Amino acid sequence: MSSGTRPAPARQPASAERAFAEPVHLAVSGEDGQLPAGRHRLAPALPAAAMPRTSSTKSPTQTHANGTRKMPKGCTRPTSVRMTRRTITRRRSRGVLRGSARGVAERRAELRHHVLRDAWTVVKRFGAQGVVNIEKREIPCVNEAVMEGYLDDHQRLVLAALARGMGCRTFFEIGTNRGRTSWTVARNNPELEVYTLDVPAQAEASGLALGLQTDDLEAFRPGPVCGEAFRDTAEARRITQLLGDSATFDFSPWAGAIDLVYIDGAHTYDYVRSDTDNALRMLSPTGTIAWDDYGSNPGVYRLVNELAPSLDRPIHHIFGTRMAIYSNCDFVVRRPFDHHGSLPTV
Ligand SMILES: C[S@@+](CC[C@H](N)C(=O)[O-])C[C@H]1O[C@@H](n2cnc3c(N)ncnc32)[C@H](O)[C@@H]1O
Repeated sequence: MSSGTRPAPARQPASAERAFAEPVHLAVSGEDGQLPAGRHRLAPALPAAAMPRTSSTKSPTQTHANGTRKMPKGCTRPTSVRMTRRTITRRRSRGVLRGSARGVAERRAELRHHVLRDAWTVVKRFGAQGVVNIEKREIPCVNEAVMEGYLDDHQRLVLAALARGMGCRTFFEIGTNRGRTSWTVARNNPELEVYTLDVPAQAEASGLALGLQTDDLEAFRPGPVCGEAFRDTAEARRITQLLGDSATFDFSPWAGAIDLVYIDGAHTYDYVRSDTDNALRMLSPTGTIAWDDYGSNPGVYRLVNELAPSLDRPIHHIFGTRMAIYSNCDFVVRRPFDHHGSLPTV
């Protein structure tokens, strides 16, 4: 640029930016009207005209550049214009409570479903002595992962990241359903062989070796829908679809050969116990078992909690997922609790 070029005029801030660019007053809460160092809460500046006329502000005083009055030396801003932190919090809480009261009245069923269910799930997590609660960020291979797959249930992506991070070569899923997990895990692990088991097309729930519960009846998926997510995909050639009742299926060909077993078939205690016995037999020396619905299903919760003390290594429950994990690999790096590093899961 030549020295004769005029400097560009300063850009006018957009209205929102301008609002922030304008001088603001500190909302004060200390006795002397000052905030302790490092704990600054900003409140928007009041224009001079909006300042209440109190005895302390009646007489003509000096003003700041933005038109607001300077407080005489030794004076604090009048209480009526001071927005203390407590006031702001109280007002916000009142707003939230008022909104909630309206929401509770109008959407009772939804509240029961979400709030009570989630609260109960969290309580159950703390009630399980033998299972270690961990955050996703405590699993380095999950925390750093970039995955591709179905987001209707992000747990599929966590599983795919575990498979990759642990260098798995074989994956066995009990309970295929549409096949979204099988496909997601295969898609992100190009070397992986996938086996996935579900009931045969003509199967009836009443014909299974062990009973099903209501949730299982809703998810019972024999027929063409089973495995539709991977059918005709590039990954399909690495996915073997198996058909049978998991309580009577012969798992022996995979004994000691599976690096990651995902148990997500029927969720009654008896089925989960039978599937877990088979999973333990299929496990490779560096293998891992993931149980779906640990936090949400009583049958899985009971079985996993009972099993945990008898194993040589801990079972971990990953917050933000429904999964409990047992592994022959060290995949967790514990970190001190830090509520900034932990986001709400609901
Ligand atoms: C919750 S779904 C599985 C979801 C699937 N894993 C996914 O991530 O998308 C449960 C599946 O288990 C199957 N299932 C139920 N009882 C079974 C049994 N006894 N043996 C094999 N599969 C069973 C159901 O047909 C259903 O497709």
